[in-house]
Amino acid sequence: MTGIDYSQKIPNNVDLKSDKRLQRALERWQPDYIEWWKEAGPTDFNANDVYLRTAVSVDRDGWAHFDYVKMPDYRWGIFLTPSEEDRKIGFGDHYGEPAWQQVPGEYRGWLRRLIVTQADTEPASVEQQRLLAHTAPSLYDMRNLFQVNVEEGRHLWAMVYLLHSYFGKDGREEADELLERRSGNADHPRILTTFNEPCRDWLSFFCFTMFTDRDGKYQLLALAESGFDPLARTCRFMLTEEAYHMFVGQTGVARVVRRTCEVMNEFPDADPREHGAIPLDVIQRYVNFWASSSLDLFGAEVSSNSANFFSAGLKGRAHEEKFEDHLAQDAEFELERWKDDQLVRERVPLRNAMNEVLREAYIADNQKGVEYWNRECEKAGIDFRFTYPNRRFHRTIGEFAGAHFDPEGNPIDERTFAERQHEWLPTEKDRDYVESLMKPVTEPGKFAAWIAPPLRGINGQPIEFEYVRL
Ligand SMILES: [Fe+2]
Ligand SMILES: [Fe+2]
Repeated sequence: MTGIDYSQKIPNNVDLKSDKRLQRALERWQPDYIEWWKEAGPTDFNANDVYLRTAVSVDRDGWAHFDYVKMPDYRWGIFLTPSEEDRKIGFGDHYGEPAWQQVPGEYRGWLRRLIVTQADTEPASVEQQRLLAHTAPSLYDMRNLFQVNVEEGRHLWAMVYLLHSYFGKDGREEADELLERRSGNADHPRILTTFNEPCRDWLSFFCFTMFTDRDGKYQLLALAESGFDPLARTCRFMLTEEAYHMFVGQTGVARVVRRTCEVMNEFPDADPREHGAIPLDVIQRYVNFWASSSLDLFGAEVSSNSANFFSAGLKGRAHEEKFEDHLAQDAEFELERWKDDQLVRERVPLRNAMNEVLREAYIADNQKGVEYWNRECEKAGIDFRFTYPNRRFHRTIGEFAGAHFDPEGNPIDERTFAERQHEWLPTEKDRDYVESLMKPVTEPGKFAAWIAPPLRGINGQPIEFEYVRL
């Protein structure tokens, strides 16, 4: 069954109405969710019509439907990709056994933890971005922000469905707590650091959707391999939505770069700031900050948790089918470690390096995005190239936390880092400047001076379409 039943209070393709208890539990959670949205989401725009995409079926091309909707009326629901007949577990100690349709008792704790950690990031990002609409550089961008926000809300629904239907009372308690933690709240913060970082300006938003949402993509790819079939199917559908978030980030930064290059060509002797653009080195520092912070989200390079999750068949590698050996039993993985203030190459059991395997795939994907920005510079004939910072730079989790490295990954002492970090990370002056540019532009088809228009509009609509009715 791939059609979505929209006649229900909670749209779904999981035949929710046949499970009255679950349906009632989710219908009880629903008003709390709406209350959370109204309090912690983009509060001041709840009465406006926004041109949004909603899933109408989970078929390959039938799931995107565009229309004006007020955000609190968005049909958040529960959508899983159809089940694969006789699906087998694709990796780890249970390789080749039938995928689990129920939570395997011995892994209940680990599985719940994996789901809660993923779930917590979804509402967190909505909270981080809740004030951005007030300074949107265009209606097109404002609409994209809202699209990302409602879909993160739906991802929360996706995870809460799993908690409610498979984890009983403690699952329901976890679902309630997901609405109680708040991004950046000192007493009750979100679980992961990056999701407590303020995201006050649009350059941060674009970097966030480029790097942090892409972490989401890779976590979802790894969970989409899970032997726990409902989790795998949930994550597969989430991935179709996630792709758009990264498009927003990648093209968003590219448009900022394009605009700056235009200004640099028009006024070669001026500081781009004089003409309201963002200097390329400032953009690079924002990139360095969000890229390094997002690298932390993969966890420690050598990790017994990652080995446990892999062995148990709960969390695989991205595109597990591309690997030859799905057991990773006796295999080793060579990586760089930081020992006695030295970089040393070491071989560790592959299962303990699964975080690093996933991080590597993620880094390669990011690098392509950075090259895309560099093509903007090339096309404009501007002699500047963006770089993706080395994975050791500015880390607070794992092997390289506590030590200091430059963006090329060379070890440096604390003093050098302190003296030079203004070259590498956004300074107060950078932030003040970027924030000073954050003024709303709400006339259809008009864009703020620091960002170029997109190449095309949404769903074949023109760029000057009224994407949000204010
Ligand atoms: Fe998400
Ligand atoms: Fe996302």
